[in-house]
Amino acid sequence: MKLRTDKSADALKRAEALMPGGVSSPVRAFKAVGGQPLFIASGSGSKIRDIDGNSFLDYVMSWGPLILGHAHPAVVEAVRKALEGGASFGAPTVREIELAERVTAAMPWIEQLRFVNSGTEATMSAIRLARAATGRPGVIKFEGCYHGHVDALLVKAGSGAMTFGAPSSPGVPEDTVRHTHIVPFNDLEAVRRTLDASASEIAAVILEPVVGNMGCIPPGEGFLKGLAELCERQGVLLVLDEVMTGFRVARGGAAERYGIRPDLVTLGKVIGGGLPVGAYGGRRDLMQLVSPVGPVYQAGTLSGNPLAMAAGIATLDLLSAAGTYERLEAISQQLEQGLVNAAAEAGVAVRVQGVGSMLSLFFTDQPVTDCASALRCDTERFGRFFRGMLERGVYLPPSQFEAWFVSLAHSEEDIACTVQAAREALKQTV
Ligand SMILES: Cc1ncc(COP(=O)(O)O)c(C=O)c1O
Repeated sequence: MKLRTDKSADALKRAEALMPGGVSSPVRAFKAVGGQPLFIASGSGSKIRDIDGNSFLDYVMSWGPLILGHAHPAVVEAVRKALEGGASFGAPTVREIELAERVTAAMPWIEQLRFVNSGTEATMSAIRLARAATGRPGVIKFEGCYHGHVDALLVKAGSGAMTFGAPSSPGVPEDTVRHTHIVPFNDLEAVRRTLDASASEIAAVILEPVVGNMGCIPPGEGFLKGLAELCERQGVLLVLDEVMTGFRVARGGAAERYGIRPDLVTLGKVIGGGLPVGAYGGRRDLMQLVSPVGPVYQAGTLSGNPLAMAAGIATLDLLSAAGTYERLEAISQQLEQGLVNAAAEAGVAVRVQGVGSMLSLFFTDQPVTDCASALRCDTERFGRFFRGMLERGVYLPPSQFEAWFVSLAHSEEDIACTVQAAREALKQTV
């Protein structure tokens, strides 16, 4: 199918004159896959429509928040009702309590939390809190994990940073990252060595428990439990960045799925149901250090705003229905298996890796377990595959190093169409 792109091309020209790359976040510009970004007009369920009238099955799902699909009627109604009552007050509202109750019920290791406006704010604040609580400056971060564009964490970061071959950014002073220690993902020995050498300087270990920002990389057997034990032994705080995995790989996130108890957790995406939101929380004694109870300052004009809270409450309520995660898992499994079969038929060596409703198709024949193995993937080939899928009406994340997101709105028929498109598009990459 030849896509109509005249209106998107015009829009890009207008946007590029006003915004760097014409976008509000880098990966959206399609630079890693070639071609031009499409401007989206609307979404409903599993599908989006662009301003030229092309319709696509969507696996970006706003990069994870839309676990119910686009414009779910319950979320639309909840946000409409909230908006009619006033968009923001900068004062406490009961919806904040209601969302906090739902989060802490699903994740009992979060005894208290603070709402913010993005995942970046959540990780930035959690690191500040960990440093204040321990009186230590250091942070251990894993190569290829992305925690938002926090200065201290923008070192060897994944996602867009990795996509554009600049995993560390100019503008971040050496001094700011002096205390950031980088180790390979899934390498417990490297963490042990770093802690043995400098535990008394390390406040926290932060990680994506299931990585989404190098493509989907599961933690190896025993990795998370081993990490939790190492942290406990050395008095170092374990910060699980569940911005992507929270309410996604299980209701209680990766901590539930892998049976670990973090000291602090960061959240975003799903808990805002598609509106801008983030949160950080964890042990009560740590959270009691946050202002106004404690001295660790952190604030936000729009934090906990009624619209985001309403969308989050509606989303989490629907997710709490019995069998929801089993259904998500089953449909995602169907997609993973379909992609494996399609690649075998096309004679293309790929690895399909997934956890829950996150997955990636890597153009490599080796397991992808860390940043080094992710970087061995054939990104040119991914670009051809991406464009082939787009022409067949499937909108994938425009980078080899991003996870695809399956939602409850994706039907078996959607999956069958996606697999058929993949069968054809993979052949074209040969
Ligand atoms: C694991 C993780 N942490 C933090 C962030 C940053 O969140 P935000 O883009 O809302 O600032 C992201 C964004 O993709 C993420 O995937």
